[in-house]
Amino acid sequence: MTEYHTRADMPERYARTLDQMMKSQAYRELAAAHMFGHGLKYVPELKWLKFMTWHIREEMEHYEVVAKMYAEFAGESVEPWVNARLAEKPIEYAESWFELAMAQFLYDRGGFWQLQEYENASFPHYREVIRKIIAEEKGHQGLGERIVVEMCQDSAYDQVKQPLFEKWLRYGLLSFGRPGGEGNAYAISVGLKKRDSGEVMKDFIDDIRGAVRSSGLRWPAAGALGMELPEGVDWRL
Ligand SMILES: [Fe+2]
Ligand SMILES: [Fe+2]
Repeated sequence: MTEYHTRADMPERYARTLDQMMKSQAYRELAAAHMFGHGLKYVPELKWLKFMTWHIREEMEHYEVVAKMYAEFAGESVEPWVNARLAEKPIEYAESWFELAMAQFLYDRGGFWQLQEYENASFPHYREVIRKIIAEEKGHQGLGERIVVEMCQDSAYDQVKQPLFEKWLRYGLLSFGRPGGEGNAYAISVGLKKRDSGEVMKDFIDDIRGAVRSSGLRWPAAGALGMELPEGVDWRL
């Protein structure tokens, strides 16, 4: 696979694809910081407050490293673009502790799986930044899941758990982009990502299956998510 070290060496389409990947990543990191920051008021205990403030700071720092990388790559700041995108396409906020845990479990984990597709990218600077973020994202995993599984044992959440699960499952799955398509195929062919989005969706579903089962949740009915899903997803529980 050809590696490129500067933008000037890259074929135009390669540079454009990478530019878009960095922008989306920057947006996603800042959106995560906003979402968890917004949710801070719902956090009920000191031990979780410590976790959540640490998490918010890490998401902000991810934004910072991606923004720095973008400035070096593109010769301009990504901030105006990210701010405009956040304004026109605001991220959904969690509006309770239970929902925040659901977002932590599904939205944050979606990002984690998505990043792993870029960890061997054929642009060394990008791949180094992505690997650093993945290492930190590993530390975010698990806790949201634990809180969700625990709270779902409480019948007080019986009415809300399934709809909130479906809402945040959808956001988690949207992290991967649409399955198939020419853009996916191009990014894979030049070594910018590993696999088609559909394959990542399947891994993500496999990864959360145990927690979904333990929480007494069920997969949404076909078509309920209103998004394109790949063929061959294992919808067993
Ligand atoms: Fe992050
Ligand atoms: Fe995270």
